[in-house]
Amino acid sequence: MQTDIGKKAAGEKAAEYIKPGMTVGLGTGSTAYYTILRIGELVRSGLDIKAVATSAQSEQLAIEQQIPLVDFEQVEKIDIDIDGADEADAQLQLIKGGGGALLREKIIAAASKEMLVVIDEKKLVKHLGKFPLPVEVTTFGWELTFKQLAALGAHPVLRLKDNNRFVTDNGNYILDCHYQKIHNAAALHAQLNNIPGVVENGLFLHYATRLIIGNADGSIREI
Ligand code: 5RP
Repeated sequence: MQTDIGKKAAGEKAAEYIKPGMTVGLGTGSTAYYTILRIGELVRSGLDIKAVATSAQSEQLAIEQQIPLVDFEQVEKIDIDIDGADEADAQLQLIKGGGGALLREKIIAAASKEMLVVIDEKKLVKHLGKFPLPVEVTTFGWELTFKQLAALGAHPVLRLKDNNRFVTDNGNYILDCHYQKIHNAAALHAQLNNIPGVVENGLFLHYATRLIIGNADGSIREI
């Protein structure tokens, strides 16, 4: 794998915010990957933390890295969640779900005191929406949900993987919605989640507490 300097810089920087005794949310994707590797190094050198993962993929990586994972019943509050994003704006609003893990990512973000978002500079945008908004839908009646979204102007496309329907860790499908520019993210969020077949959408509007942006030269900017 070719190293992406911006993603690596941001991913590793975020690990500096972790303090002993914390419960940490482990994000999903190629930027959070670098955070998990760095946390693994810290744990193997004695850092005492617990973690919860936002996807089966990140859970597997955490196990390989010897990061102690805990069951949710043992977790009261997550101290810090570190996750990637597909787009972020300067108001710390995000589009997530490019990797299909948005539901678990949002459950963990909502239970976290802090959410650090690790991105490379290309992900910082003026307006959300160029990246297609992932919407997780039930497999039951997904065709009807698709039609409802289409009628609302979402231009949905069923996500495929290797020519098969992409199935999330929760057994659902993803409809990627092509808006180009999202004008009222809060209203759109409510409208989407009001459709019965929609499980969750990839707008994360009130969770991020800090953006850690890795530039192509390896430098960092934080918002
Ligand atoms: C997965 C996500 C990821 O955080 C998002 O897709 C960014 O991934 P990457 O760091 O690989 O660009 O939301 O559901």
